[in-house]
Amino acid sequence: MSEVHKGTDEFVEELMDEHRRKAKELANTYYDEEYFERLGGPEATIRTEFPAFAWKEFYYGLLPPVRQCDLIYRRGDPYYDDRDIIVGLGKQIRDEIKHARIFSNFAERFDADADMVTWDAPYHPEGYYDKLVAAGYAGADHEEPHHVAAGFQCSTEVGAAFQVRNLASYLESEYPNIANSLKDIAADEGDHNHLGGLIAKRFGSPDDHDRMAEIAQQKYEAIRDGMRYAFENPEEFARGGD
Ligand SMILES: [Fe+2]
Ligand SMILES: [Fe+2]
Repeated sequence: MSEVHKGTDEFVEELMDEHRRKAKELANTYYDEEYFERLGGPEATIRTEFPAFAWKEFYYGLLPPVRQCDLIYRRGDPYYDDRDIIVGLGKQIRDEIKHARIFSNFAERFDADADMVTWDAPYHPEGYYDKLVAAGYAGADHEEPHHVAAGFQCSTEVGAAFQVRNLASYLESEYPNIANSLKDIAADEGDHNHLGGLIAKRFGSPDDHDRMAEIAQQKYEAIRDGMRYAFENPEEFARGGD
């Protein structure tokens, strides 16, 4: 292994450790029992959070790996040296669609519409759906596969796993079956994180370290601001009464 490559491996490990720490802290500050209680309790949490989670699993989960497949097809070696990544991305796409289905099915069981063909955040604040869409472009709109990985599998995607874990522990006593499904979802995220590390190490180089750190930080800040807003304004999100 060359010195240059070793430098990138270390950089990627550090980036992932940093964002794992930050993601956990964020979920435990703004997305835990206190927030769920503000939303109105377990059922209100399911009705409010699950349709949005289904949408995020589907779009945020699907489009970045699709983009990475395309970029690796163009810039990498999809039929030979990068097959492990292409196969991993295929599995990730399958997992994310499954996660979206699980959230949608539970939401519908609680009378909350979560059809991915039509859902447009009807019970969220004005302009919320547009914000979700804008963040989707920010996640996938890069010209290098490792830039997508820096802002997604290596960083912010870990945050979604911590949020799902917190949801599972909150719902565990009243809805153990839902909690178990959520834990299965969170368990898949480890594979996605591992895949992101592989992509970032293989395609990244020391010239890119600053850019990768910047992308991860920008996405972290956008997510932090959104979560803080929801935490401080639960009445705009809560739909326990309808
Ligand atoms: Fe997922
Ligand atoms: Fe994932």
